[in-house]
Amino acid sequence: MGLKLTAEEKEMLEGKHGKAIRKAMEIITTLGEIYGAERLIPVTSVQIAGVSYHNLGEAGLEYLSEMAEDGQARVLTTLNPAGMDMLEWKKHGISADFAENQQRVVDAFARMGVVTTCTCTPYLIGNLPHYGEHIAWAESSAVCFSNSVIGALTNREGGPSALASSLTGKTAEYGFHLEKNRMAQVGYEIQTGLHNTDDFGLLGKVIGDRTGKKIPYITGVPQATTGQLRSFCASIATYGGVALFHMEGITPNRTRVPEITEIVTQENLDQARQELDDDAAEIDFISVGCPHASINDIAKIADMLDGKQVTEGKTVWITTAKPTKDMAIKMGYYDKIEKAGAYLVSDACCAVAPLEGRFKGLMTDSAKACYYARGKNKFDIKIRTVDECIKEALV
Ligand code: F3S
Repeated sequence: MGLKLTAEEKEMLEGKHGKAIRKAMEIITTLGEIYGAERLIPVTSVQIAGVSYHNLGEAGLEYLSEMAEDGQARVLTTLNPAGMDMLEWKKHGISADFAENQQRVVDAFARMGVVTTCTCTPYLIGNLPHYGEHIAWAESSAVCFSNSVIGALTNREGGPSALASSLTGKTAEYGFHLEKNRMAQVGYEIQTGLHNTDDFGLLGKVIGDRTGKKIPYITGVPQATTGQLRSFCASIATYGGVALFHMEGITPNRTRVPEITEIVTQENLDQARQELDDDAAEIDFISVGCPHASINDIAKIADMLDGKQVTEGKTVWITTAKPTKDMAIKMGYYDKIEKAGAYLVSDACCAVAPLEGRFKGLMTDSAKACYYARGKNKFDIKIRTVDECIKEALV
C-alpha cells in the first residue's frame, strides 16, 4: 500500500510550512515507510527525551537550535529530566559550565513552545492522556506507563522523532498505535507477595530479563499502587525493553490471554536482588524518586526526615518534577527535607546528571536507577525499600 499523505502533510514535507516542519516530516515519513505505516495520525501529547546536556552534547544542542529557528510545538509537549535542577544546581555540585549549556538546551525547547518542566512522570503534572489516546512519548518508563497503566497508545519514540511529532502534531501509524500489535504474548504468574517499590522493580527485572520485548500478561498481583507501577514500568522497560504489559485486574487494555505461562517465585526476586546488590558497597549516595516522586511520596519522606540529620559524608537526592517540588515547598515538605540535609531535586535525576566519579555507592529503591548507576556512573549499588534508604542516610 505504501504511506499515503494528506495534502497538508505533503505541503509540510515540501517545506511550505518552514524548515523545521520539513525536517520533522522527513523523520516521521521515513519511520512510517520503514515500519510499513499506511498513514499518519494526529497525536495529542508529546514527551521528549534526550534533554540532559550530558547526553546531548554540542551536536544535539546545535540540532535543537536549528529546529527552534522556525519550529513551534503544536500539541502539549513536556521534557524528560535534564542534567540538573534548573534553579538549585549550584548546591548539588553541578559546574557553572555544565549549567550554562544545560540552560541553552532548555532555552531552545522553550523557544519552540515546549513546556520546559523536565520529568519522566509527566502524567503526574498535567501531561496526562486518557485511555485510547494516540500520543508520542520517548522516555521508556513513561511510555510503558502510558501504554500499560493508562491505556494510551504510543511507540517508544527517540528524542528527534518525539520532537518531530510535537512540531507537526503527527506520528506514523505503526507498532503500538495499532490494536493488533498490543496483544499479550507470554504469561507470567507471580507466586509471591510484592510489598514495596523495590519489589516491583525486582519483578520488572525478572520479567524484563526473560521476556525481552515480548508483551507480558501478568497474573497474581492482587493490587499495586501508582508508585509501585511506576517502579515496575521503569524496570521492565530497562531490563527488557518492554513498552507495554498487561496486569490482570489492574491495567485497562483488552487482550487475549497467552497460551504459555511462566512462573515467577520469591526465589527469582531474591536472585534478582542478589544480582543487583554489591555486598561490599560503601553507601555515600542515596537517591529515591526514580521515576520521579509524587507529592505523596515526598510527604512520607519529609515525615521520615523531620527533625533528623543526614549523616556527614552522605548525599541524599529525592528527585521529582518542578511543579511537584513547588507543591512540596508550599506544604512545608521541602523545608523538612532540606533542613535534614537532604536535597529535593527537581528537573533532574541520578541517571542523567553528570555524577560519574562523585560517589562510591548508591542505595536506591529503583531497579532502573541501579542499572544506570552501575553501568554509566560506575557506582556500587544496593536496592532497598524507601524506608531503608532513608534510614541508611541517617546512620
Ligand atoms: Fe526517570 Fe531518571 Fe529514573 S529519567 S525513570 S528518574 S533514571
